Amino acid sequence: MSFWTNAQLAILRRLREGFLQGTAGDADYWKSQEELALYDQTFAKRIGWKWDAVLGELELRGWQPQGTRLVDLGCGTGIASRRVLEHWKDFSGEVVLMDRSGLARGFAAEAIRQRAPQCSVRTANISEIDCEGALVLLSHVITELDAKALSLWLERLSRAAGFLWVESATHGASRRLIAEVRERFLKSGQWTVVGPCTHRSACPMLREENEAHWCHHFARVPSEAHQDPAMGALSKELGVDLRVLPYSFLVMERLALQTTDDKGDSLGGGAARLIGRPREFKGYHRVLSCEKEGLFDRIVQKRDVPELYRRLRKESGVPLFRFTTEGQRICAGESLFVSPESDDS
Ligand SMILES: C[S@@+](CC[C@H](N)C(=O)[O-])C[C@H]1O[C@@H](n2cnc3c(N)ncnc32)[C@H](O)[C@@H]1O
Repeated sequence: MSFWTNAQLAILRRLREGFLQGTAGDADYWKSQEELALYDQTFAKRIGWKWDAVLGELELRGWQPQGTRLVDLGCGTGIASRRVLEHWKDFSGEVVLMDRSGLARGFAAEAIRQRAPQCSVRTANISEIDCEGALVLLSHVITELDAKALSLWLERLSRAAGFLWVESATHGASRRLIAEVRERFLKSGQWTVVGPCTHRSACPMLREENEAHWCHHFARVPSEAHQDPAMGALSKELGVDLRVLPYSFLVMERLALQTTDDKGDSLGGGAARLIGRPREFKGYHRVLSCEKEGLFDRIVQKRDVPELYRRLRKESGVPLFRFTTEGQRICAGESLFVSPESDDS
């Protein structure tokens, strides 16, 4: 017998189909509190781990949110706000939850009131939203917004102090995030990019020769996921792969509030971010390295850089480096940030 009833599985399947087929944006799909609770115990949990990866990286990089207002656009069950409030426990300002679904807004508000009683929580619809000076959260929503809706959201977002945007790691979602958000905000001259980028120049992903690529990363799946019967049944019944957790993200802030240098290289020059997974061959890896000068297919040989080679096999920590290269070969590599849980010995 499955952990989930047939009726629950039917709901989860319907939701997933809408997300995967890109039809979820057509109309409000939340039908009951039960549906929201099911989503919260399953898909939202996975989304929460992606947020943990992004927030963990920001913490390692010493980035702190500014202001006293969080706005969660397309909040669903409010998982993004909850993860942010869990990471930045001192936050005690206002949380504004926006969703086209009144049921979702209510669910998210209740969940946040319970977990963060120090915050004042308010719900709103898009016409009431004012992002002025706020830190805005957006999560798994870009595929549900048509051009008109996205343009309205971006107009609201452009008044914010900063935003954290996490999406699924599909080619389409990632490239839309870059082309329609990153490049547009950078071009305005009023915004800077915090992550995942190592620089503030035009994104090399958008060059014609890089059409096949997209900006994505892998989050750590906590070991508890494999013991959780709810997640186990999700994997067995719906085919959700619990071993991998790819995601895309974009963090930007207003120039006046930036905490990093503004020389065009957010990580001090010469930094590289590895995109996706290293491809392993006998004695070497091939990696896709995003650098200010472009996107490069590079080779990490065990005999050239044994520590880096080992580290890539374990895929731990934030994939930000400073490399010395000779042609395609990486001859030396320094990790820019090593997370506490990564054991590089
Ligand atoms: C896949 S869910 C993601 C929810 C939450 N952000 C998360 O990461 O779990 C997308 C949410 O966006 C909301 N949404 C979609 N289109 C919207 C629109 N045009 N205006 C407001 N909310 C919208 C949906 O109702 C849904 O709650």
